[in-house]
Amino acid sequence: AQATTETGKRVLLAKPRGYCAGVDRAVQTVEEALKLYGAPIYVRKQIVHNKHVVSTLEQQGAIFVEENEEVPEGATVIFSAHGVAPEVHEQAKTRSLKAIDATCPLVTKVHQEAKRFAAEDYDILLIGHEGHEEVIGTSGEAPEHIQLIDGPHDADKVTVRDPNKVVWLSQTTLSVDETLETVARLKKRLPMLQSPPSDDICYATSNRQQVVKEIAPECDVVIVVGSRNSSNSVRLVEVALGAGAGAGHLVDYASEIADEWLTNARTVGLTSGASVPDDLVMQVLEHLAARGFTDVTEVTTADERLTFSLPQELKRDMKAAA
Ligand code: F3S
Repeated sequence: AQATTETGKRVLLAKPRGYCAGVDRAVQTVEEALKLYGAPIYVRKQIVHNKHVVSTLEQQGAIFVEENEEVPEGATVIFSAHGVAPEVHEQAKTRSLKAIDATCPLVTKVHQEAKRFAAEDYDILLIGHEGHEEVIGTSGEAPEHIQLIDGPHDADKVTVRDPNKVVWLSQTTLSVDETLETVARLKKRLPMLQSPPSDDICYATSNRQQVVKEIAPECDVVIVVGSRNSSNSVRLVEVALGAGAGAGHLVDYASEIADEWLTNARTVGLTSGASVPDDLVMQVLEHLAARGFTDVTEVTTADERLTFSLPQELKRDMKAAA
């Protein structure tokens, strides 16, 4: 049992939370590019799915666009952490853009798997959320071989050319448990279904879910800091509820926390998605402390040390400028 203050109001702060290695690298890529080439720097799509990060970089001179056509010929464009289809690289070449690819290396790994299985003429079942940028990028590697499976219910209607030559891959930011369920249902229909050579759901996604599962049963409410379009953040709320939290809420900022959420709460769980800077979490802690939740216990279930080096094309220019 954790120590409690007189009021009995406490916070269980999840660790690991917040920035993963891929987000850290992507944000640094934009910052370093701004320093090196000067503003404006164009970024195709949100560099990471976080409102605060995007608006902070905007203030520093980044211009976020949806497509390459919006970037002036010859300008520098950064591709987001979620990855892009090969045709996006082609478009950039056609417009003579200087492209810097901030795709997370763990997303690139899934692209490589997709390419490899497609080259061997497998049917690839890509488990992921329809319309998510990562899924669009991965599918673009081999559109004629890949079909999207968006959750367990999609598993029941899948058809393939050869049931002996089929593999599943996944988006990196899914619910671990729901994905296992989807795979189990797919295997009922396709007993010879092969699994990815290594986990596609990334370490950061699974670690953040694991610690939330650990604290959720003790929490009257779990607050997840993250943006609505952030897949891994949304999953954290679902995982908290599934693991027994009384309630779960996703907020971009502390100011969005409604007082009613805390009225009868004694234990509040707090975590953040992989694209969330930790100062936003610290602001939530201050907000909670001002409402009597001063007893904070950090619950740690994994130690993360992974870091990724900056994209080669950027490193080369940084070296040349040094
Ligand atoms: Fe990469 Fe996973 Fe983060 S795929 S961007 S390390 S959430």
